[in-house]
Amino acid sequence: LADPIRESGRHLAVLLELDGEGPLYRQIADGLKRAVDRGEIPLGTVLPPERSLAGELAVSRATVVAAYERLKAEGWLESRQGSGTWVRQPDPDPVDEDATYASRVFVPSEAEVSGSRPAAAGDETVDLAAAVVTGTPTVADVLGSLTAEEMTKLTRHHGYVPGGLRELREHVARRFTAQGVTTTDDQILVTTGAQQAISLVARLHLRPGDTVLAESPTFAGALDACRAAGARLVPLPIDGDGVRTELLEELVERHDPRLVYLTPTFHNGTGAVLPLERRQQLVELAARTRLTVLEDGTLADLDLDRRGTPPPLSALHDEAAIHTIGSTAKLFWAGLRVGWVRLPPGDVPRALASKTALDLGTGLVGQVLALRLLEHADEVLAERRAELVPRRDHLCRLLANRLPTWSWRRPTGGLALWVELPSGNADEFAEVAARHGVAIVPGTALTVDAGSRRAVRLTFARPHDVLAEGVERLAAAWEAYGPTDTRPASRLLV
Ligand SMILES: Cc1ncc(COP(=O)(O)O)c(C=O)c1O
Repeated sequence: LADPIRESGRHLAVLLELDGEGPLYRQIADGLKRAVDRGEIPLGTVLPPERSLAGELAVSRATVVAAYERLKAEGWLESRQGSGTWVRQPDPDPVDEDATYASRVFVPSEAEVSGSRPAAAGDETVDLAAAVVTGTPTVADVLGSLTAEEMTKLTRHHGYVPGGLRELREHVARRFTAQGVTTTDDQILVTTGAQQAISLVARLHLRPGDTVLAESPTFAGALDACRAAGARLVPLPIDGDGVRTELLEELVERHDPRLVYLTPTFHNGTGAVLPLERRQQLVELAARTRLTVLEDGTLADLDLDRRGTPPPLSALHDEAAIHTIGSTAKLFWAGLRVGWVRLPPGDVPRALASKTALDLGTGLVGQVLALRLLEHADEVLAERRAELVPRRDHLCRLLANRLPTWSWRRPTGGLALWVELPSGNADEFAEVAARHGVAIVPGTALTVDAGSRRAVRLTFARPHDVLAEGVERLAAAWEAYGPTDTRPASRLLV
C-alpha cells in the first residue's frame, strides 16, 4: 500500500487481548489474528518493530520475534528489509473447478458403472481408478421394495426435513451407540453423501486461511472440500498403520490447525486400520489442544477379512470435539447419495442451519430406502465380502504374476490396493497407462503436497475379467514406460 497504516506498539498491545493460555508467543500470534479477523487491524497495516511491542507487553524481544515468524510462516504477515512487517490476509488456495477430485477420478461411463456394458470390451478404457461399487442383489431388491401404500404415506408429509428423517437418524444413532459411543438422534444430521458431510463440517469450522491437517495420502474429495472452504492444507504423514500419531503433537504445535481430517478405518488409499493405541493418543491430544477432528468412517463397514475394527474415535473420549461421518455409498450404493454426520451437541444448531441453507434437506425417498438398507446391513455385508474378497485376491495374484517388481500390502478391508512402483514417477506412469487403456490414480492426486510420487492406487472392486484385462494393460504400459533399472535382471542380461 502506498500509505499504509502504522500501528503503534501501545495500541497493538491493547488490541491483542492476550488470553493468558499457552506460550506467550502463541498468545501474541493468536491475538493478532483475532484482531485482524475482527477488522480492527486492516490489511496492509505495518506492525510496530518487535522491540517496541515487546516493551509494551513487558515480554522479551525474542518472544515477539517468534510470534511474527509464526504469523509469517502461516501467511498472515509479510516483511521486507527496510519496509518492516505488515499484515497480509492469506489468500485461500484458488479452487480450480475443473481439477477437483471427482472430475479427475470418477471417470467411468454410466454404462460401465451400471454393468449394462461388458467392461473392458474392445478398446474402452479399463477403470481401476474410481474406488466404487455397484449395488448387490439385496440392494436392488430393497430399492424396488417401496410399495404404493408406503409412498402414499410418505407423500402425506410435505417432504422438507432439513435434519433428516427421524427414523433414519434414530437408526444411525443406535448404530453408533452399539459401537460404544452413546448417541442421540438429534446429534445425527443426514447429508447428501459423506462428501456433503465433509463440506458441512469444513464450512462450520474453517475460515479462509485456516490450517487443516489432513492425512496424506487420503480421500482427495475431502481435500477438495477443505480447499473450497479456503483452508491451507498441511500433510499428516501416514504409515502402514495409518496416521503417525507420534508426529501429531509437533505438527499441532507448529501449525495451530483448526481441523484434522482422517479416515482411521480402512484408509482410502492404503486400507490401513489405525490401532487402538494410536486412536487413544490422537483423541487425548485433540481434547488437550481443543483440536476439532473430522473422522471419516465412509469405508469403515468394509471389513472384508472379518478381523473386527477398533471403535470410532468418537467412542474414545467424551470431551474431544470429534465429528464422525458415515455413508451408505460403499456398503450399499453411492447412487442413493445418503450419508450422515454425528456432531458434538454444541455444533448441532449451526450445522442444521448450514444444511438448511444448502438444500433444505436430503431427498426423503432416498432416506427411506437408506433406512431399509441399513436394516439389511448384515446380508449386504455378506454379499460384499463374497464379491470383494475374491476380487482383491485375484488382483494380488495377477500383479504378482505380471508385475513382480511392484509391491503392496494386502489390505484387510476397503476397496483398493496401494502399490509402490520400484522406480519411476507415478504421474508419468499413469499417463502411459491411460494411453494403454487403463485408468489408475497416481499417489500424487491423493496427497496434500503432491508426495507419494512412486505410488499408485488400484481398485480391486471390478469383476475378474476386468481386473485381468486391466493388469495386462498395466503390464504393457510398464514395459513401455519401465525405467531400465526396474526391468527383471534376466532382460537386462539379454
Ligand atoms: C473416505 C471417503 N469419504 C467420503 C467419500 C464420499 O462418499 P459419498 O459417496 O457418501 O459422498 C468417499 C468416496 O469415495 C470416501 O472414500
